[in-house]
Formats: sequence, structure tokens, C-alpha cells
Amino acid sequence: MTKLRSPSIFALLTMWIALSQGQEDAFSGESGRREMVPAMFIFGDSLIDNGNNNDLPSFAKANYYPYGIDFNGGPTGRFSNGYTMVDQIAELLGLPLIPAYSEASGDQLLHGVNYASAAAGILDITGRNFVGRIPFNQQISNFESTLNEIRNNLGPTELAQALTRCIFFVGMGSNDYLNNYLMPNYPTRNQFDDQQYADLLTQHYTQQLTRLYNLGARKFVLAGLGIMGCIPSILAQSAIGACSQEVNQLVLPFNANTKTMINNLSANLPGIHVIYVDVHNMFQDILTNYRSYGFSVINRGCCGIGRNSGQITCLPFQTPCPNRDQYIFWDAFHPTEAVNIIMGRKAFNGDQTVVYPINIQQLANL
Ligand SMILES: *[C@@H]1O[C@H](CO)[C@@H](O)[C@H](O)[C@H]1NC(C)=O
Repeated sequence: MTKLRSPSIFALLTMWIALSQGQEDAFSGESGRREMVPAMFIFGDSLIDNGNNNDLPSFAKANYYPYGIDFNGGPTGRFSNGYTMVDQIAELLGLPLIPAYSEASGDQLLHGVNYASAAAGILDITGRNFVGRIPFNQQISNFESTLNEIRNNLGPTELAQALTRCIFFVGMGSNDYLNNYLMPNYPTRNQFDDQQYADLLTQHYTQQLTRLYNLGARKFVLAGLGIMGCIPSILAQSAIGACSQEVNQLVLPFNANTKTMINNLSANLPGIHVIYVDVHNMFQDILTNYRSYGFSVINRGCCGIGRNSGQITCLPFQTPCPNRDQYIFWDAFHPTEAVNIIMGRKAFNGDQTVVYPINIQQLANL
């Protein structure tokens, strides 16, 4: 699929080269923004998808009201009332909002592309119940398509140099649990125990990130898994609406493996920089100290049906809660914009309790 047209790709590349050579003022005029990096490329699932599933035959879509009720432009496919975490990070990096791969072309690719897809996982088979979704392997292939378009117009050296300065944000794994391991119609749970499954995911994850490295990526931001046992969908499965300690425990080996994987990647791949965003610790802090963050409702979705508003997730044209800033969860599975903004800020300039060994701001400045 041809996504780029010649005149705009030329403009794109000229600016990219200027940026990669440190002439950052080439861009900062018009909007008053100051871009810290040339571009951000984003891979992940519904926590950061911004519309890639809109035209797929998929049950995993959010391009309808009231999704986007607080977003300038309304519903886009974001699974939030407004910003996702990567929207906030893009803003802090001085970038515009990064467009979805499915919708981006020409100059819109200037600052990066978002390949994330709701229901997608590290494993290709994950999320099958939703039919259409773009697994991580295919997301990387889509990035390769973007690069192939660019490579037709730009020498390999210039491209490689520009890529080393770009941020690669990756947030995968939630669906490999929620929409694979924990799904009764998958055999996974009978084949692997918790640790074996985490090991399987990490093996694939290592190969996938190495593939991105071989394509030229150097600055990686990996988001770990949150406290999945406390999302409204899981709360609703408990008679007393309690967090599932079983689910919370289940995902811990994956987070632990991811940290080891980061050490391994850093030891084995010259020039790579990988940082870990500890979403688990961020979320624990927000749940524990919710009042100090201005939240009052922590155990049900702002939009959804049934127990904890989590038995059926937010339906088209359903009326959401009015006080969305006071809710931690927007729907049965996803946080509100208010939480996404807090997490994006912490990932950007937080201390080592939430992002390490350095934060995104420091990574961008390397
Ligand atoms: C890290 O590397 C060690 C040594 O090669 C290996 O045994 C281990 O499985 C790796 N762990 C992860 C999570 O990548």
C-alpha cells in the first residue's frame, strides 16, 4: 500500500535530516512547540490504539460516542474519554499527536506513527475472539512498510541516523492475559503454568524488540502491565467486587521477566537504550492515594453496564458519568484520561520508583 506521496515525503525527509543533525529550530516556529526528538513510533494494544481498528472487521473498536467525549474532535478509536498515555507523552516531547497507521499519509507521518491495535498481543493468536486486530508481529511489519517507503527516497545512512534519535514506545502483554490465558476457549492455561507462560511471552517479546533494533530503533520505552486484577471487568466477576489477587499475581512474572529482558537486550545489542515504565507501581500509587489525586471513584467504570459498570463495557451512545475527572476507570478495561495524563507525566519526568533506569525526558536528551 502506498501511503506516501513524493513531494510530501521529500519535505518530511528534509526536516527529518535537519532534526537528526540537531537543527531543531527547523520546526519549533509555527506552533511554539519544541520537539525533543524527531519522531515517536508507537506499538501496543487498546490502551494506546488511536484508531487502527476502525476499518477492520473487529469487535474491538471505540470509534463511537461516548468514547472521545472529552477529546477535541470526538470519537477517534481511542479507548478513553480523551487522551491516552502516549498522547500525553507526545505533548510533553513537544510533538503533535501521533497519527494512526491506518489513517496517516504524507506529511502526517512527519513525527511518527501509531501502530497500536486493540485486542492485539505479543502472540499472534491473542485476541482472536474479537476477530480483527493487528498483532505485534504485524505492527512491526507495518513499521517496515513505512520504512520501505522512506528508504526509496532517503539514503540508508541518513535514515539510520534519524532513527537512532526517535522514541519507540511499546506497550504489549495485557491481552496475552485477558484475551488469551484467561479466556476459557483458549488451551493456553492447560499448556503452561504462570511462569512458563511469562517465559514464552518474553521469548517472543525479545525477538520482536530485536527485530525493531535491527530495523534501526535504538531508544525504547517499554510499558509494563498494570494491576489487572482491579479493573472493573475483573471486579465484576467477584461477588463482593474485590480485586482478584489471582490475576494480580498472574501477571507479575511477566513484569519481572521484562526487567530481566531489558538487562539482556542492553548487554547484547550495542547502542540500545531501553527504559521500563512501571505501570504497576504507578497504578498502585494512584489506587492507594486516589484522594490526593482528586479521584473519588476507584471501583467502577464511568461508562459500562452491570456490577462495577464492568460486566458489559461502554456501549454506543450510552450516557457516561458526568464527573469523569473523579473516576479512575473510564470503561470496563481502560483508565480515564485523567489517569492517562498522570501516567504519561510520570513516565516523562518521574523518578526511579516509576520509570528506570532513566525517564523519557532523559532518554530523549541522550
Ligand atoms: C536473559 O539472559 C540469560 C542469559 O543468556 C538467559 O538465561 C535468560 O533466559 C534471559 N532472560 C530473559 C527474560 O530474557
